[in-house]
Amino acid sequence: YVIFGLWAVVGYLLGSVSGGMIIARAMKLGNLRDIGSGNIGATNVLRTGNKKAAALTLVFDAAKGAIVVLLARAFAGDDAAQIGALAAFIGHCFPVWLGFKGGKGVATYIGILLALAWPMGLAACAIWLLVASVSRYSSLAALIAAGWTPVVMAFTGYGSSFLLAAILCLLMYWRHADNIQRLRAGTETKIGAKTQ
Ligand code: G3P
Repeated sequence: YVIFGLWAVVGYLLGSVSGGMIIARAMKLGNLRDIGSGNIGATNVLRTGNKKAAALTLVFDAAKGAIVVLLARAFAGDDAAQIGALAAFIGHCFPVWLGFKGGKGVATYIGILLALAWPMGLAACAIWLLVASVSRYSSLAALIAAGWTPVVMAFTGYGSSFLLAAILCLLMYWRHADNIQRLRAGTETKIGAKTQ
């Protein structure tokens, strides 16, 4: 239990480091809270008009999820990896450094999935790209790309990790409550539309 607690703390702390905040500050892109949706994720960084910063944010936030899983699995096994992953995701969504106001977890979930069940992660990326290119809605693409993953994992021999995936997806949907409302109202911002 001490080991699990340790990976929960390590996961939370790593997960709570926001790529978007650091990169936006380093590249002098202004305060993400005043831009677009006010979110700290790659989609909102893209609304600054800086594609490189958005890509870096995506990679950063995915990498921290993947790194926690890989490290915890290497040092303490599969159960620790799952606890670390959950903690990293919670850290990203509720970081202590930002008054617990964090992101929506899409990039971090993809990173976790790539490290935990890489075929699922790759498939989720492909579906995100497909839905995003057709609809131009980042949030819709994320909800569709992630939503089916726990269901498929439950039937394809990924053991109990489908439960973790299900919990993370539920949290992700909850974090997208505003986006879902905007999608239904037809007022969600499309990718490429600059909103300052
Ligand atoms: O990953 C977040 C994305 O799905 C929505 O972001 O900034 O449009 O709320 P945003």
